Amino acid sequence: MQNLEKSMISKLIETAMEQLKFSYTPYSNFKVGASLLTKNGQIYTGCNIENAAYTPTNCAERTAIFKAVSEGRKEFAKIAIVSSSGLKTYPCGICRQVMSEFFKGNEQIILENAGEIIKYTIDYLLPDSFKL
Ligand code: THU
Repeated sequence: MQNLEKSMISKLIETAMEQLKFSYTPYSNFKVGASLLTKNGQIYTGCNIENAAYTPTNCAERTAIFKAVSEGRKEFAKIAIVSSSGLKTYPCGICRQVMSEFFKGNEQIILENAGEIIKYTIDYLLPDSFKL
């Protein structure tokens, strides 16, 4: 069971890394990749997509979540986030808010740096989040 969990986390990190090559970042050159695991075992990936007007930029996490939700998936288990920075990349406030919309609490938000893996919950990253 623990090995299955470890290999799934490795797979998510690997597929998130693969997204870095698709990142569209002519303005920041900061490439981010995300890989989202649904509860039924599907993986949705995403990269950041920048824009000349800056504010329309979409983060990698939101790309992955929106791809999944737009295909009818709303039950998630884990999301891995990586970047080209060589450091752990924490999700921005907007992505935390978007995660809080769909994450029920136990989902793992996985960050990786040089082989070190850290897992967070959405409640830790965005306590007392706004909900209607
Ligand atoms: N970025 C993400 O993709 N995810 C985050 O959670 C933080 C920021 C992207 C947006 C922009 O393209 C670049 O990183 C620099 O801010």
